[in-house]
Amino acid sequence: MAIERLVEPTAARDAEEERIEITLRPTSFDDYIGQEHLKSNLRLAIEAVKKRSDGSTLDHILLYGPPGLGKTTMAGVIAHELGASLRVTSGPAIERAGDLASILTNLKDGDVLFIDEIHRLRRAVEEVLYSAMEDYKLDIVIGKGPAARSVRLDLPHFTVIGATTRTGSLAGPLRDRFGIIHRLEYYKEPEIEQIIMRTAKILGTEIRPEACELLATRSRLTPRIANRIFKRVRDFADVNGDGIIDTVVAKDALKLMEIDYLGLDPADRNMLKLMWDNYGERPVGLSTIAALTGDEATTIEDFYEPYLLQLGLLARTPKGRVVTEKGRKHLQDSEPGF
Ligand SMILES: Nc1ncnc2c1ncn2[C@@H]1O[C@H](COP(=O)(O)OP(=O)(O)OP(=O)(O)O)[C@@H](O)[C@H]1O
Ligand SMILES: [Mg+2]
Repeated sequence: MAIERLVEPTAARDAEEERIEITLRPTSFDDYIGQEHLKSNLRLAIEAVKKRSDGSTLDHILLYGPPGLGKTTMAGVIAHELGASLRVTSGPAIERAGDLASILTNLKDGDVLFIDEIHRLRRAVEEVLYSAMEDYKLDIVIGKGPAARSVRLDLPHFTVIGATTRTGSLAGPLRDRFGIIHRLEYYKEPEIEQIIMRTAKILGTEIRPEACELLATRSRLTPRIANRIFKRVRDFADVNGDGIIDTVVAKDALKLMEIDYLGLDPADRNMLKLMWDNYGERPVGLSTIAALTGDEATTIEDFYEPYLLQLGLLARTPKGRVVTEKGRKHLQDSEPGF
């Protein structure tokens, strides 16, 4: 059985969390902390589009990177900065080519269409998207059999923002249609601190700078996890103290959540331990790891692995994943305490 995880960087788990996520979502470049390189590129591109008055639109943008780093948030920010309206959909939500056709024909010039999990688009849908993105045309077939004929419709000039956790599984022709392709990076610790401070302010909670620093080191350099941990620690402070988050409260809460000093939770440590105990220094295939932990292989690839790779606790080889020396050391010295 997979362990329920606090640090799991997937989208909001319930309505309450979703409500808070929306409250916390930055709406402008100034609010959006970090990802400076991406922001300066986008600022430039948006300014250029605004200066031109020939009706040209922003290039299609592909954002990729591990979950919870702010891809969806950035799509909203881009639309806001453009002064455009945002239409949100996702790869799995568009079931048939006709669904996409109706979304596209309902857009207006300058609109932004956000397609989350774009790597999960069906092939037939993807093919409709090609020509729509390339020259704002929609090819549809009317009728059946010998009487069928193909009609080409003009579409409004829109911008697609695609988001994916994996560019590897995106078809080449689709990728080629994006003018701007950008990988979102893990945040730097001071940026996560700023995000926690901002969250505290919005939620009206007092947090001491040292406590904020501490939480930032445990947040996997990921805003969604920083916010999630913050909310848990805030609950803890409300119940066990006067509601103010200081280092004592923060440490106790982290201990309760079993998050260690690198931000790993029991599930991460469990995975490393199972790999080490069963395979030692030998590489382990993804499906074998999945069988060991009881998770889906894609869950491991998308959620557990990127941060462990980033930390150098795990390495990827052509033959599979291996626990590194650093990973083995961490297993040894993280077990007793936190
Ligand atoms: N740069 C940022 N500054 C402040 N808060 C941020 C930033 N990026 C993300 N967040 C916060 O983190 C939360 C998660 O971000 P978001 O939903 O955009 O991630 P995502 O990359 O789309 O994740 P997924 O791949 O799971 O869809 C948001 O609710 C937002 O409050
Ligand atoms: Mg998202």
